[in-house]
Amino acid sequence: MADEVLSQFTQQVDTEAKVDTSKKLKVGIIGTGWIAESHIQSYKNMPDVEVVAAADLIPGKAEAFMKKFGVEGVRFYPSHKELIDNEELDAVSVCTYNRQHAAPTIYALEHGVNVLLEKPFTVTLDEAVEVMRAEKKSGKVLSIGFQPRFDANMQQIKKIVQSGALGEVYYIQTGGGRRRGIPNSTFIEDKTAGVGALGDIGCYSLDMVLNAVGYPKPLTVSGYTSNFFGTSTDYESEYDAKRFSVDDFGAAFIRLEGGIILDFRISWAMHMDTPGDTIILGKKAGLRIPSTDCWNGSVGGPMKIYTDIAGEQVETVIPILQNQGKMGLFDKKIRSFLDAVKTGGPSPVPSSQIIYNQAIIDGVVKSAKLGKEIDIVIPEI
Ligand SMILES: NC(=O)c1ccc[n+]([C@@H]2O[C@H](COP(=O)([O-])OP(=O)(O)OC[C@H]3O[C@@H](n4cnc5c(N)ncnc54)[C@H](O)[C@@H]3O)[C@@H](O)[C@H]2O)c1
Repeated sequence: MADEVLSQFTQQVDTEAKVDTSKKLKVGIIGTGWIAESHIQSYKNMPDVEVVAAADLIPGKAEAFMKKFGVEGVRFYPSHKELIDNEELDAVSVCTYNRQHAAPTIYALEHGVNVLLEKPFTVTLDEAVEVMRAEKKSGKVLSIGFQPRFDANMQQIKKIVQSGALGEVYYIQTGGGRRRGIPNSTFIEDKTAGVGALGDIGCYSLDMVLNAVGYPKPLTVSGYTSNFFGTSTDYESEYDAKRFSVDDFGAAFIRLEGGIILDFRISWAMHMDTPGDTIILGKKAGLRIPSTDCWNGSVGGPMKIYTDIAGEQVETVIPILQNQGKMGLFDKKIRSFLDAVKTGGPSPVPSSQIIYNQAIIDGVVKSAKLGKEIDIVIPEI
């Protein structure tokens, strides 16, 4: 399954594309696990990139990884620190598990290296704030790895909202996920992942709608999380219930600046086929986005706009758009980051937006623990 998933993201780059190949960028990869496979495949497609270094905490893993992908001349290190200390790099991909997002990113930025950081931004809001402070001080590019941003249908959602067709947006219901589908990996342990479905797929679902409405600041959250499936041996098939120590389901009611209400739910496992379609209600029209699995980077079917015309209630189907060009979404994510590095920014998926995504995830976790609504307070960067 993993290979199928990866091939959806990574395709051959259009070699006709106008890329300034005169300056090769020296790139390092920190963490050579599953998602690093998509990064190396994309970097191999880029004519102006030389992957020169890789690090992994597990001895021999980075070496085996580069051998598998036929990349030669790479220097190997036991952690992000040695890699940053010993290399002159233009950029790094931080492909570590969530609990190791902040430290390598901060260390790279402090040493003047541009960073493409995998999603979710971090585990906690405090970590995200620390990363942003390092980013600000460094003046380097930090982009967060949300490849669905480059999908034509995802972009269409934003275009529809920004066109004013819906009028003023006042309510959003979003979420997604699956009836059964707990990953068997470092994703299920608190010590590595920190958050479960919330951070794995919830961050995509939040990004889809928050990006469309211009990333308003979250003000309060009343959150709920559970892990009835992950910790039960009744449903265990591929994953290890004894190791399971994160959420497998989350829901929240969030107030956003501008009077928008966000009703959010996300699932790795439940007794239901879907937690519902995404709907965006505006004063002039409403948009329905069929339920999506979230990780695969596109909408779950043709979208529909509901409005009244000349006193009649009408529905308009928005046909599914095909992505243009030969680049896959992952290649587009990598290319957008490299272009920003070459031009000195701006970041294609900036921390100034994703901090609000992270603040919501952090708020859901905290509110769920306290069992009541909390204010979201984002410290000064
Ligand atoms: N964009 C996507 O579609 C997508 C898909 C899957 C995973 N991800 C994200 O990618 C991240 C990694 O996921 P994964 O499935 O590849 O995890 P993984 O556990 O397979 O790989 C992570 C690797 O990082 C290494 N590592 C941890 N800390 C390190 C450090 N300080 N220095 C060097 N190496 C270190 C680990 O030893 C491990 O080999 C997660 O945050 C996940 O959310 C993104």
